[in-house]
Amino acid sequence: MADSSEQRAREDLDRAFTMRFGETVALPDDIDDIGGEGLSRLAAMAARRSHRNWADRPVSDELIGLLVRIALCAPSKSDLQQADIIRIREPGQRRRIADLVPSMPWVATAPAFLVICGNNRRIRQICEERRHPFANDHLDAFFNAAVDGGIHLAWLLMAAEMAGLGGCAVSVIRNAAAEVSAILQLPDHVFPVAGLALGWPAEAGTIVPRLSPDVTFHHDRYEEAGMDAISAYDQRRREVAPYGSQRRTDRFGECDDYGWMEEKARHYALPERADFGAFIRSRGFRLD
Ligand SMILES: Cc1cc2nc3c(=O)[nH]c(=O)nc-3n(C[C@H](O)[C@H](O)[C@H](O)COP(=O)(O)O)c2cc1C
Repeated sequence: MADSSEQRAREDLDRAFTMRFGETVALPDDIDDIGGEGLSRLAAMAARRSHRNWADRPVSDELIGLLVRIALCAPSKSDLQQADIIRIREPGQRRRIADLVPSMPWVATAPAFLVICGNNRRIRQICEERRHPFANDHLDAFFNAAVDGGIHLAWLLMAAEMAGLGGCAVSVIRNAAAEVSAILQLPDHVFPVAGLALGWPAEAGTIVPRLSPDVTFHHDRYEEAGMDAISAYDQRRREVAPYGSQRRTDRFGECDDYGWMEEKARHYALPERADFGAFIRSRGFRLD
């Protein structure tokens, strides 16, 4: 018999999954081992959402220091520890970065702002120090550091959410990757993965629906779900979480069935960061 905290957690999980996937999930028998506390942590993860508006309340250095240390506990490819986190404290530094991404005003307004970087420099320096060649100067060197950066971004955001903060990743800073790197004085083989804006949420925010696991969760082998399943998600999402405005109506006009598919297709109909490969090469990476 579930106690009241476990019952509440089950209801929270049901509510989150209904909004997220349009369906609930029967809890497996072995969920009993998780207990009310574990279940409510899972329910909180299922209900998470990005925040871009914050209360006028500072986030202490101590709290940021704690959360960054939690993020640095994330798993790391081959234990190479190829992610670094830069907290932007000086107002001038923040202003310089915010000015580069005017479409993301939360970079300027967030009580705290950090930049997560991939760092493939250290292992190259360690090879030199230990007098070994660095024999892996190819695409994988960049890819591994980028993946480590992404994992640390997610862990930092999740740790912040568990502490009651809300946040939003900002990969748009990579639209100005060279300028951001110059401001942060990033040396060769260190590159920005994304910014992270954090603060105490000013509003509850909403759960953003996701594609059905029928599309994205496979068993034993990849099976393409087909456009009907994606269109069904598009339809559900239009009903429960419609977009407030349409992207680039100057270019594409207004459309009646504007949803996730049209939004994403418009987004990727125009080139973005086409120079990113050249930037990464300019930081010393060979990408072959
Ligand atoms: C790697 C990454 C980069 C992102 N970059 C941006 C960004 O530049 N600007 C922004 O407003 N949101 C950004 N986001 C947040 C996503 O837009 C958000 O996660 C998505 O819309 C789903 O909403 P949710 O997080 O509330 O579920 C980013 C998220 C990730 C994981």
